[in-house]
Order: sequence, then C-alpha cells, then structure tokens
Amino acid sequence: MIAIEVHLDAEASEAMARDVRAGLQSEPKELAPKYFYDERGSQLFEQITELAEYYPTRAEREILARRSAEIVAEAGAPGTLVELGSGSAAKTRHLLDAMRDAGCLDTYVPVDISEEITQETARCLVEEYPGLAVRGLVCDFERHLERIPTAEGERLVAFLGGTVGNLYPAQRQGFLSRIAALLGPADRLLLGTDLVKETDRLEAAYDDSLGVTAEFNKNVLQVLNRELGADFDLDAFEHVARYDSDRERMDIRLRSLADQEVRLEELDVSVEFVAGEEMRTEISTKFTRARLESIYADAGLEICGWFTDAAGDYALSLARPA
Ligand SMILES: C[S@@+](CC[C@H](N)C(=O)[O-])C[C@H]1O[C@@H](n2cnc3c(N)ncnc32)[C@H](O)[C@@H]1O
Repeated sequence: MIAIEVHLDAEASEAMARDVRAGLQSEPKELAPKYFYDERGSQLFEQITELAEYYPTRAEREILARRSAEIVAEAGAPGTLVELGSGSAAKTRHLLDAMRDAGCLDTYVPVDISEEITQETARCLVEEYPGLAVRGLVCDFERHLERIPTAEGERLVAFLGGTVGNLYPAQRQGFLSRIAALLGPADRLLLGTDLVKETDRLEAAYDDSLGVTAEFNKNVLQVLNRELGADFDLDAFEHVARYDSDRERMDIRLRSLADQEVRLEELDVSVEFVAGEEMRTEISTKFTRARLESIYADAGLEICGWFTDAAGDYALSLARPA
C-alpha cells in the first residue's frame, strides 16, 4: 500500500525564487544544497555513494549492517520508521530488515524533496516487504516537518547520510528542536553524522578523481537554468572542495573562471561574477561525540545509543527527548 503526498507547489517555486535571489545577493554568493536534488542530482548522488573516495556511505552501511537489530531493540521495536532525506533508502533496508525480524515493521514514511526517487523507492519497498504500508511525503523537510503523519505506536525517525551536516548551526539547532517537539516520549531519533578526521581524506571525499562530485555540484546551475530561466554556462565554473578546520566543515563552492554576467529571467535579475569569485553551494559539518552531546542538549534531546564503524570514521547516534 503506497500513499505519497506531494507538497511541492507554487509556494515551493516561490520559496526557491526567494532563496536564490537572497543567496545571490549575499557575500559570498550562496545557493542552498537542497536545490541539487532534481532527478539528475539524485542519480549523481547515488553515483557518489559508490565512489572509492566517498567513505561516509560505506561506513554508515557497515554500522547499519552490523547493528540494526540492536538499534531497533534500543528504540523499543518501533512499528513506524520515518526517514528524512530518504533518497533511494539503500542502507535503510538494514533497519527495515531488523524491524521485520523483530516482528514490529508496519509503516515506512520516506520524506524527500525529490519526487522521482521517492516514488521509485516506495514502489521497490512494497515489493520487497510484503504488507508494508508506505506513507511518503515529497516536501522540503525544513518547511513541512510538522506534516509528518502521527502513528499509533512508537516511531523511529532516521536522518541518515550526514545530511544534518548541511545545515548551519542556527538552522540545525532549530531543526533538531522541531524534531524533538515531534517526538513522543517513546519515539527515538537516529542521526547519521560524519566525524572529524584528516583534511586529505575529507577533501578527497568531496573531490573525487572521476569528477562525479564536480558534476553533482554543477548540476545546481542546471536546475536554476531550467527552473528560473537562468543562462549559467556550466563550463565557466569549476568545483572547489575545501576543509575549514576552524569550523570543522567542508566548504563546497563553484568558482567563476571568467568575469561574466548571468541572467535569471524568472527573477528579472542579472548577476555579475568576477574571475576567481566563489559561490558556496554546500557545507558538510563534521562532528565529535562531545559536540553532538551539546548540540542535542541545546535541542532538548539526549543520546541513548552511540554506534560507529570499525575505523571510527562515522557515527549513528540514537537520541530521545530529554
Ligand atoms: C546527502 S543525500 C542522503 C540520501 C540518503 N539518505 C543516503 O543516506 O544516502 C540527501 C537527501 O536529502 C534530500 N534532501 C535534501 N534537502 C532536503 C530538504 N530540504 N527537504 C527534503 N529532502 C531533502 C535529498 O533529495 C537527498 O535524497
């Protein structure tokens, strides 16, 4: 049984226009990473997860493959799994398997901004898990979090892939506080976070030798060309991935290769770039356990489970309302 609600309407297009207009006026210029994920962007992200340099997906998969039964037991054998930024839900199968094996699996709620991948994921999952109800939401989880359906019993809310690292501290604090407010006393949050490590490995993970991350980064310009009638020349920008060790985050940018003017017809705006100017398209924050504990405390949550891969590259933390 599949029911997918789509909340990407005229209001979503207006929000995108507003975000892009504000971002292009900021210093440095900036675009929000959620705009990477049209159908092509979702496909490119899937390719990134297979890259030799991109260890986070492998590390998270290792943890889920080994510890999902324990995670599900610690979470109180929930009947509903809500997943924010679900994408292809490739690794999520380990959690669903563990819930099925524990006899509690009832409903899966994928929440993602990309409609194509959410519909496809729902179709695959109902075939793979007979009797599973899929009640998905295609929406911007920052705007529509409160539309997530309530459930009869316990819920596990998973936010995997390190996506929380894309939020700035104030945004992240607000978002986690809203998640905390949604959780009933027996509900749990399962959060995937990449951990602080050597700069070389971090920078290689976001600038692979095959150029897939570069193509993913530039895809956001293609999205603006299509959605906002822009005329970005993708060959006139290059991909930049630097680790900011003070803020403990990757800083992903597009650098203009020339002095150029770009027109965004739908916004009735022309924007100038000077040669060498960089526009930020994503941050990806790296965490430590101590930092996460304080982030959780500020959001009204507390850690009740901590799971890492053998190399200690990545962590899944289970949290409950404090
Ligand atoms: C880094 S990918 C992670 C995908 C998958 N969870 C994984 O671990 O491989 C981020 C996912 O979040 C979705 N996403 C990003 N920003 C979003 C937003 N504001 N609202 C809803 N979904 C969003 C993207 O479409 C994408 O599927």
